[in-house]
Amino acid sequence: MTWSTLFASTDDDGRERLTQAAMSVIDSLNQPLDAPRSSLSPVELHQRVRSFEVCPDEGVALATVLSELGTTVWAHGVVPTDTATVAHLHPPTTLSAVVTEMAIATTNQSMDSWDQAPMATALELHLMRWLGEQLGFPEGATGVMTSGGTASNVLGITLARSHAGAAIGIDILKTGLPAAAVGWRILCSDQAHFSVQRAAGQLGLGRDAVVKVPTTDAGVMNVTALDEVISAVRSEGLVIIAIVGTAGTTDLGAIDPLDQIAERANAIGAWFHVDGAVAGSFIMSPTLRTRLAGIELADSVTVDFHKLWWQPFNASALLVRDPSSFNLLRVTSNYLDRGDELDGMINLVGRSLDTSRRFDAAKVVASLRTIGRSTFAAMIEHLVSLATYCGDQVTTRATFELLSPIHGVTCVFDAPGYDANALRLVQQQLLLRGEAILGRTVIKGRAALKCTFMNPLATTADVDRILDMIEAELQTT
Ligand SMILES: Cc1ncc(COP(=O)(O)O)c(C=O)c1O
Repeated sequence: MTWSTLFASTDDDGRERLTQAAMSVIDSLNQPLDAPRSSLSPVELHQRVRSFEVCPDEGVALATVLSELGTTVWAHGVVPTDTATVAHLHPPTTLSAVVTEMAIATTNQSMDSWDQAPMATALELHLMRWLGEQLGFPEGATGVMTSGGTASNVLGITLARSHAGAAIGIDILKTGLPAAAVGWRILCSDQAHFSVQRAAGQLGLGRDAVVKVPTTDAGVMNVTALDEVISAVRSEGLVIIAIVGTAGTTDLGAIDPLDQIAERANAIGAWFHVDGAVAGSFIMSPTLRTRLAGIELADSVTVDFHKLWWQPFNASALLVRDPSSFNLLRVTSNYLDRGDELDGMINLVGRSLDTSRRFDAAKVVASLRTIGRSTFAAMIEHLVSLATYCGDQVTTRATFELLSPIHGVTCVFDAPGYDANALRLVQQQLLLRGEAILGRTVIKGRAALKCTFMNPLATTADVDRILDMIEAELQTT
């Protein structure tokens, strides 16, 4: 085998090979399936995959391998473009992002150091500056791309912890947690994502350092309760180092009153982090962005491009209002981030919890430039209107009970004549037969089904079809 044919390149021969390989990949995606997934059982999937010899003695032709992946893997995956795939915040992906992924992988810029990614560094920073502007942050605000909302939240809370250390003259990332840290607390709503607790655990504060503020019936942080929690925590001599507001909770899409939380955080000198993984893209819609009032007051914001910005995994960002916040993270190294760089020679490793890192910013920029602001806004608004329509239908149909007002792209509901086991069976049977992929969760102690609308090509007829399927399946339980 000629080694050169194994590597992606962009000379004439390389481009010819890329073209052929691209055609083979496209052929391999030719799934006969017109459903959210195939009906193979979990056990059958494990059996089928065993036919794959991972590394045979002699390599197999690429076209053959791609075709095998098509019939064995892609044909039995989940289809996010199917309009009955509504379980999670799992989007269909834009054409521009998908093809830009090929350029990202072919050119393989590594975002840790300027000498591995000179123009890519400039573009990522350009995107971060633009995003800071959209959020309403002051000039100079910046950010860094991460692998997901969990990573962005961990990074935001890491900065909050370092900020609390700096306030008492301690560089925590250098000398470790001070004794005072046993009394540090992070507040968030009882609907906040589990990554807040995970961050507290990983950062040595412990998951118990997270104090959950009760939510209203609508699922948003109750500000009166927040005031009570702040007073109670402080009266015990504990220090609130951060308050996390959620812009779009995972199940309900609820948006906390960010402006009021910002006011409280500011009054007590706590870091204000907004987890905008779910509803961050509402800033793109003139009608929806008013729901995020106060996000511009945050110290850090998580935005997940691989949710309601329709990007392939992985693509997320952590934005900070004050670029000097990142100084708290930087560790210089002899081989990478040496500290003797020329003007503009920025090594993004100094802002990230990763070292080597993908150039995901390229696909985000390619998508945003292709879609344009007005179409982007219209697509987000359409998804919210689909969830609203779903809520109306659920309310109209006697079988169902809506469990929360519609805040964003999700609709959660119960079927009062049926128990939790019946809901489980409906969700599992439709999943196993590959007919619909529904969400299942628990809302205020009640078992619930959930539809999350991520596909702007879906219509109200798709919503009707999904609800019809659920009603029919309930009858069989
Ligand atoms: C509100 C919220 N924050 C953070 C996350 C974590 O995002 P990721 O899966 O990209 O790590 C999620 C995931 O659903 C989420 O709903």
